[in-house]
Amino acid sequence: MLQIITLTCFVAICVSHASAGSRQYQEEVVYQWNVIEYEWPNSTFKEQEISRGNHEPKNSTINGIKVYKDKVYVTTPRLKTGVPSTLNVIVENQQPGNTSVQYVLRPFPSWDMQAWGDCNALQLVQSMEIDVNTGYMWIIDTGFVPKDFQDEDRPVDHCPSKLIIYDLENDKEIHRYNFPNDVVGPDLYYLNDIVLGYENNEARYAFISETLGYKLVVYDYKKNTSYNYSHPSMHASEEHENITIVDTAVKRVKLGINGIAMSPDFKYIYYSSLAGVALHQIDTSVVTSSNGNNTKFAASVRSLGEKVNPGDGMVYGARHNLYYSALGSNAVYKWDVQKDLEGGHNFTNVQLKSQSKLVSHNLTEWVDTLALDDKGYLWFTTSRLHKLFSEEGIDHEEANFFVWKVFVDDYNYMYRDAASGGSRSFTSTAALLLMYLSAFVSFWL
Ligand SMILES: *[C@@H]1O[C@H](CO)[C@@H](O)[C@H](O)[C@H]1NC(C)=O
Ligand SMILES: *[C@@H]1O[C@H](CO)[C@@H](O)[C@H](O)[C@H]1NC(C)=O
Ligand SMILES: *[C@@H]1O[C@H](CO)[C@@H](O)[C@H](O)[C@H]1NC(C)=O
Ligand SMILES: *[C@@H]1O[C@H](CO)[C@@H](O)[C@H](O)[C@H]1NC(C)=O
Ligand SMILES: *[C@@H]1O[C@H](CO)[C@@H](O)[C@H](O)[C@H]1NC(C)=O
Ligand SMILES: *[C@@H]1O[C@H](CO)[C@@H](O)[C@H](O)[C@H]1NC(C)=O
Ligand SMILES: *[C@@H]1O[C@H](CO)[C@@H](O)[C@H](O)[C@H]1NC(C)=O
Ligand SMILES: *[C@@H]1O[C@H](CO)[C@@H](O)[C@H](O)[C@H]1NC(C)=O
Ligand SMILES: *[C@@H]1O[C@H](CO)[C@@H](O)[C@H](O)[C@H]1NC(C)=O
Repeated sequence: MLQIITLTCFVAICVSHASAGSRQYQEEVVYQWNVIEYEWPNSTFKEQEISRGNHEPKNSTINGIKVYKDKVYVTTPRLKTGVPSTLNVIVENQQPGNTSVQYVLRPFPSWDMQAWGDCNALQLVQSMEIDVNTGYMWIIDTGFVPKDFQDEDRPVDHCPSKLIIYDLENDKEIHRYNFPNDVVGPDLYYLNDIVLGYENNEARYAFISETLGYKLVVYDYKKNTSYNYSHPSMHASEEHENITIVDTAVKRVKLGINGIAMSPDFKYIYYSSLAGVALHQIDTSVVTSSNGNNTKFAASVRSLGEKVNPGDGMVYGARHNLYYSALGSNAVYKWDVQKDLEGGHNFTNVQLKSQSKLVSHNLTEWVDTLALDDKGYLWFTTSRLHKLFSEEGIDHEEANFFVWKVFVDDYNYMYRDAASGGSRSFTSTAALLLMYLSAFVSFWL
């Protein structure tokens, strides 16, 4: 009798472990849209924005994403004109008497902050980072209004690039900095993605990929100053200028340094160009101590190897995995850094080897930006950017823009309990054992 029960319990534990395992890597669509829908204060305002040419529903796509306390913030960069808002939070929009819920983009922090042509407002936000320990959102605004990224025209350069720090907990702006022209600009420039660097348990630095000027831009909050680096590793690679995305060829892509990631100890910055496959690593301490000296940067940058194909965003997790967008295969890949540290390697000589496909779904077209939350989920947007800029354009009769999540049991790099991340899984395993133990006891009684 005892033997039978023990056996059953073991089977139950095995089954339960297997199902916990299969919970991983099952991507799910959290939100989707055929056409991006915004939340309007009233229909008069909406009509007015349409008549002013500020709202062409077909010109919006979602790119950037960050998740904080169950709120999902997304950017709608003004890659074309006619995009009414550039930074948003996703909210429910339920019409009275209608039981079906629609999700819409509520301009964040307000409609006023989206005013086109007003340099005090947000102009073109591609990304933001949220300091998960303080709730401060660091927003980067390129500031210009592009004519059209398809032709090689210069953008209409009318507002300076800026960084705004916004306190999500108290709903107020706490800091603002305009980048000088010798750091961002004066010609082609584009503030693309951002990670934060901590010092003494506080965010001090912002590291920003500048995709069209091929620079790494550094902002030092403590000194309220900025500087930049340029290096051939940040350029668009001619060899990878034509990107084939399943059956669509995107020609002559001139986009350089794009995806950027930070290690959980804040010691290493990782980056790649969009047109390119090489993954690079640089010591944060070199970047923060060299004040824009390119010779010092060049002496320390390391090429780690090649990703499977060119990609957009990337993110590094507390458990030492680097997740990256693989545009050519419409996939998310994972570099298992821990595995490549085996055999006596360390962070100064590790190479990119153990990479595998994490998510690839027939709807994950142009994996754009990735973010890790504090609950073990990897979130990402798919933007169909290649279709948005293709001659045929996007078919608005079908779902185009998606927010996905997938459980990976990995955490945001800033998460302070990250180092004890292992104890989480210990706790859950222990809880599971306890559960079965009590089941066993009650059965026995
Ligand atoms: C509509 O919303 C705009 C923008 O918030 C506001 O300025 C205007 O007063 C509102 N109009 C009406 C009729 O409520
Ligand atoms: C929408 O984008 C197209 C370029 O694809 C542009 O020609 C058009 O003017 C934009 N619409 C508005 C209202 O700005
Ligand atoms: C109810 O809401 C859904 C989603 O927003 C919308 O597609 C549908 O047309 C609405 N139904 C009515 C009767 O308004
Ligand atoms: C930070 O620097 C900018 C630009 O130099 C300046 O306008 C701003 O007043 C400074 N802010 C603080 C808090 O020192
Ligand atoms: C920024 O980069 C440019 C081009 O590499 C360089 O000329 C300039 O000195 C840099 N400025 C700063 C403040 O780092
Ligand atoms: C990319 O495509 C263009 C236009 O078709 C072609 O001229 C060019 O040689 C291609 N580049 C590479 C590296 O294959
Ligand atoms: C940059 O660093 C190199 C190497 O340390 C040094 O020789 C050079 O003088 C530095 N340049 C500037 C402008 O400080
Ligand atoms: C990393 O490993 C190399 C080769 O074994 C060694 O020379 C180096 O000192 C190590 N670096 C660190 C930071 O441990
Ligand atoms: C994607 O896969 C689903 C289910 O396998 C299928 O029904 C759908 O037609 C596919 N869509 C495309 C665009 O291939």
